[in-house]
Amino acid sequence: MNSELIPVITIDGPTASGKGTLAHRVARVLGWHILDSGALYRLTALAVMNAGQDIDDQFAVAELARGLDVRFEGGQILLGGQDVTQAIRQEQVGNLASRVAAYEPVREALLARQRAFCRAPGLVADGRDMGTVVFPNARLKIFLDANVEERALRRHKQLKEKGFSANLSDLLEDLRARDLRDRSRAHAPLEAAADAVIVDSSHSGIEETVKVVLDHWSARVPG
Ligand code: CDP
Repeated sequence: MNSELIPVITIDGPTASGKGTLAHRVARVLGWHILDSGALYRLTALAVMNAGQDIDDQFAVAELARGLDVRFEGGQILLGGQDVTQAIRQEQVGNLASRVAAYEPVREALLARQRAFCRAPGLVADGRDMGTVVFPNARLKIFLDANVEERALRRHKQLKEKGFSANLSDLLEDLRARDLRDRSRAHAPLEAAADAVIVDSSHSGIEETVKVVLDHWSARVPG
């Protein structure tokens, strides 16, 4: 199918707003593919750490991003054949990811890889710039927000469930720093696309949010 005809739903928003869970749920209901673009930035960060690469050298970091030997297999993520599904979820990796994500050459290096996820019957793409840069022609664009305290609580719970240690006040500080970096960077900053639907999930559970998105989608599908 011509890739322009493949339907795409983009879900962008700040860190720990629940985009990942929402995107997976929506993709499952529709039977579509999923792109977790944040994982690609996290994988780049992990590759930088593994290689002992100087994080300040944006072109060397971009080379690592371009050459990532990554496979998404079911729920597993393999980097150079190694299962890094859990390792990339550490806060340290997330923080480094947000730093490498500010580099334009890194974003450029990951662009084609992200677009290649767009396959029939459809794609749900989760990130920061899915609706603004990567899939500007997406049929439905969601911008998922939630207040920072609620997001810190969710991230805290998520990290604990994964067996990582986490401190709530440190997390709150981390999230604020990451928000600021994501929103103020020069290239592809975190912002809602002009034609995005803004959904605030501060006071609603996942079921309710999934329904909001599916209702918006149904309203756009002819017939
Ligand atoms: O889980 P969390 O929302 O904290 O982050 P993520 O979605 O896994 O992404 C990790 C980092 O990659 C974010 O803090 C962003 O700085 C960056 N990112 C980005 O710049 N553009 C994207 N499309 C996705 C993630």
